[in-house]
Amino acid sequence: MVPHALSTFALPLLLLPLAAFSQSVSFKKDTGICETTPNVRQFSGYIDLDNQKNDTFFFWFFESRDEPDQKPLTLWLNGGPGCTSMIGLFEENGPCLVNDDKESTSLNPYSWTNHTNMLYIDQPFGAGFSAGRKVRTNKEAAKYLWHGLQTWFADDAFSKYANRDFILASESYGAHFGPVFTSYFKSQNKKIASGKVKGVPINISKLIIGNGKHDPMIQTNATITFAIDPPGYDPIVTNKTLIQETEDAFEKECAPALSKCNDGGSDSECNDAVKICTRRVQLPMWGNRDPNDLRITDDGNKTSEINDEDYDEQSAATHYLKFLRDNKHKVGAEGKSFDQCDSGVHARFSGSGDTGRSAINDLAEIVEAGEVDVMLWVGDADQKANWVGVHEVVSQMAWSGNHAFADAQMESLKLDDQEVGQYKVIDGPPGITFVRVYQAGHQMPQYQRKTAATVFARFINGADMGETDSSKVGKFRPSRNVASGAANSALPAGTNNLTAFVASFIVLLTFV
Ligand SMILES: *[C@@H]1O[C@H](CO)[C@@H](O)[C@H](O)[C@H]1NC(C)=O
Ligand SMILES: *[C@@H]1O[C@H](CO)[C@@H](O)[C@H](O)[C@H]1NC(C)=O
Ligand SMILES: *[C@@H]1O[C@H](CO)[C@@H](O)[C@H](O)[C@H]1NC(C)=O
Ligand SMILES: *[C@@H]1O[C@H](CO)[C@@H](O)[C@H](O)[C@H]1NC(C)=O
Ligand SMILES: *[C@@H]1O[C@H](CO)[C@@H](O)[C@H](O)[C@H]1NC(C)=O
Ligand SMILES: *[C@@H]1O[C@H](CO)[C@@H](O)[C@H](O)[C@H]1NC(C)=O
Ligand SMILES: *[C@@H]1O[C@H](CO)[C@@H](O)[C@H](O)[C@H]1NC(C)=O
Repeated sequence: MVPHALSTFALPLLLLPLAAFSQSVSFKKDTGICETTPNVRQFSGYIDLDNQKNDTFFFWFFESRDEPDQKPLTLWLNGGPGCTSMIGLFEENGPCLVNDDKESTSLNPYSWTNHTNMLYIDQPFGAGFSAGRKVRTNKEAAKYLWHGLQTWFADDAFSKYANRDFILASESYGAHFGPVFTSYFKSQNKKIASGKVKGVPINISKLIIGNGKHDPMIQTNATITFAIDPPGYDPIVTNKTLIQETEDAFEKECAPALSKCNDGGSDSECNDAVKICTRRVQLPMWGNRDPNDLRITDDGNKTSEINDEDYDEQSAATHYLKFLRDNKHKVGAEGKSFDQCDSGVHARFSGSGDTGRSAINDLAEIVEAGEVDVMLWVGDADQKANWVGVHEVVSQMAWSGNHAFADAQMESLKLDDQEVGQYKVIDGPPGITFVRVYQAGHQMPQYQRKTAATVFARFINGADMGETDSSKVGKFRPSRNVASGAANSALPAGTNNLTAFVASFIVLLTFV
């Protein structure tokens, strides 16, 4: 308790001197690493908040492959908390994929840079190649990231992006980062407007969260529903005794612990609640399947339900780690070690209770305010943040469209004449877009790159989700809501030893 109170209290004091120090951005440009499309620019390096590399964010920025001066700026953040955004860059939505040789790359035709300028930042400090003070909460992380972005926009190389539409995209634990950061940036914009704070406004126009972990109560409960009947797949758990035991454990142990946590409970009560719910409810209901992807059983074999070439691209999943370690100096990255997810960051956020506290009200406030277009999309083979639970979150959260949302029918999501998922759109404001993507696990774009890029383009361009004419979704239109006109789990798939597999849950279960 004492260190927490101290760090929260000390934060404003510590931030003040930052402005007095010169802050700077240092980078390598056009390295030819990853993005090899001719004439497409890239920059990677550090956003240094004190010019001494004490508090410093690693970033990698890619211009859009098409009309970069007309395109918005999208910030991608992986979750964890503590996971590197390089997961997104190399596995989900970036310009390249690492080949099986782990030494070369191929262009990703489904890179989101076909539609937007993309900025990847490792945050909070400690994640990926970023280093600095020990951040413990979502709110602290918001403040430092805001400073980082201010520093980045202040650099001549990037100032032109300050007045673009700003899109924030994250996943998994990003269900916390996304809404908390959006609210904080909004409050800073107000202070800038009234002269209390110096800086450029960061008007987030769109917020995208993939396979979000929004609310432990609703979503842990949904783990049971989903294990019994995961729509589109065979049941995960059929043992009626086990199901009954787990329902009892939810009602008698997990739910009360979460209630205590979310009813003003202490940090340790929240941390304990996460552990209880994971061990007593999630683990038994995940059965012998990969929590990231129910199609994978513990022997590492894909079930017969998998028959899709996109999935195999995942063989490159961890290849990027070697590639990135080998090339880190070329892209300006430093640091002795590089891990997908930093256990220290994760432990600090667990210790602060933030992983047990619900982010449902943070999301509801943003949706209800109606100034930011929100899309939640979910790969439907994920168990960690299953789509039934995310749908339930939107139906139950406190916003004026919740009944309309709950009652609306899912519509067919089409791509190349195939049904690749379903969606619901409640037109706003306040409104929301919800998308279920078939045959995709926790890090949805990694499994269905083409669908993800297509849905991303439809959403950011303000096109109808049912639009199948690509010529109608190609051009970016500023958000209707910006009046002025201006995110996982890093668990490797296919872990093929049940003991190691289960043990790894205990350590990593709340990652991403
Ligand atoms: C940065 O770290 C160094 C070494 O720990 C320390 O001497 C220095 O005061 C720090 N600078 C700031 C601005 O915190
Ligand atoms: C993305 O852009 C690249 C380079 O301009 C192009 O080759 C590729 O076909 C585009 N991808 C799609 C899906 O249109
Ligand atoms: C859990 O889900 C069941 C079935 O949907 C529901 O009846 C019950 O009220 C839920 N419990 C809590 C605490 O949300
Ligand atoms: C079903 O679950 C119960 C409770 O965990 C367990 O004791 C029993 O062995 C299981 N039955 C089978 C067939 O696995
Ligand atoms: C995976 O499944 C195939 C075909 O069913 C089988 O031949 C193979 O032995 C299995 N591999 C493992 C590791 O169980
Ligand atoms: C962002 O919002 C602020 C406050 O509403 C406004 O003054 C500013 O012009 C906006 N900037 C852009 C680039 O939209
Ligand atoms: C499975 O993993 C555990 C823990 O890493 C190890 O002790 C055990 O030997 C492994 N078993 C097999 C069959 O590989």
